Amino acid sequence: MRFGLATTGGDAPGMNATIRAVVRTAVSKNIEIFGFKRGYAGILANEYDVLDARKVGGIMHLGGTFLKTSRAELMKSDEGISQASQILKKNRLDGLIIVGGDGSFKAALRIHNTSQIPVIGIPATIDNDLPGTDTTIGFDTAINTALGAIDKIRDTATSHERVFVVEVMGRNRGFLALEVGLASGAEIILIPEIGCSQEDVCAKLAESNRKGKKSGIIIMAEGSADCLNLKDIIEKKLSFEVRITRLGHMQRGGSPTAFSRILACKMGSASIDFLLNGRTKDMTAIQGREIVPVDLDYTCTTEKQIDKRVYEQALTLSI
Ligand code: F6P
Repeated sequence: MRFGLATTGGDAPGMNATIRAVVRTAVSKNIEIFGFKRGYAGILANEYDVLDARKVGGIMHLGGTFLKTSRAELMKSDEGISQASQILKKNRLDGLIIVGGDGSFKAALRIHNTSQIPVIGIPATIDNDLPGTDTTIGFDTAINTALGAIDKIRDTATSHERVFVVEVMGRNRGFLALEVGLASGAEIILIPEIGCSQEDVCAKLAESNRKGKKSGIIIMAEGSADCLNLKDIIEKKLSFEVRITRLGHMQRGGSPTAFSRILACKMGSASIDFLLNGRTKDMTAIQGREIVPVDLDYTCTTEKQIDKRVYEQALTLSI
């Protein structure tokens, strides 16, 4: 048998550990893996390398993806889906494993519907915005990376008695910001899923100041507000000096944490088992401690919900 493999969309720490797990599980079952370069762009260009156990050695601890990745706009069109389907069929692939996020999975599902080739999605994104899985490969690493930076910011915020607005990634969702906010003891968390006006932010800061806090950290999801505007308003209404830090793409890099690596090993292995067990369009999901299949139709059409209780807990703990 022969399966295709690609890492697609934004990279996430743990993608290399996933590639290693997929390839070594496949090799142990005499299955060939075509590793496509640069995500869907490599599939469209039919650019691949047949991977073996040695080629994926020494990569588990590295961030990024050694197969490279890209955002392939063409895959949003019928033309892209049809071209990719033809190329995969020409290569006589018995299955396709896509490591990535929601956009990548939508394209994989369309490829399956067009070509009937079985597809498995392995969730790897720092956004953790995929419904059906508790968490995604790379999410835990991104939280830790952001925390390392915010702990340092806290030192200078305290010394200068300033408020820092720290913008974290997450596209239009607040999963990363919420966990980072909880773990960093942020005074305020701004996420798109829970409304908080600039007046509310100022009122909360004034209240925490009344309670004796002379500095503060506002964790802001990139999809939630305009930080420049927020700085102006806080400085105008309150006596705080405000500084802004955008953590940006550093959150996507670095060596994966133990949790991200272990998840990558489990999901990478499961992807091969799912294909061999006749699964045709599933995501390798973690629910509790179990790796289970979740239909890609569900993942691609449902919106993952934020746990509002965690938001409330974070607020309570930062008084
Ligand atoms: O989806 C992962 C992510 O890092 C988002 O959090 C962010 O909005 C986006 O990708 C950035 O994309 P790019 O790397 O294309 O600028």
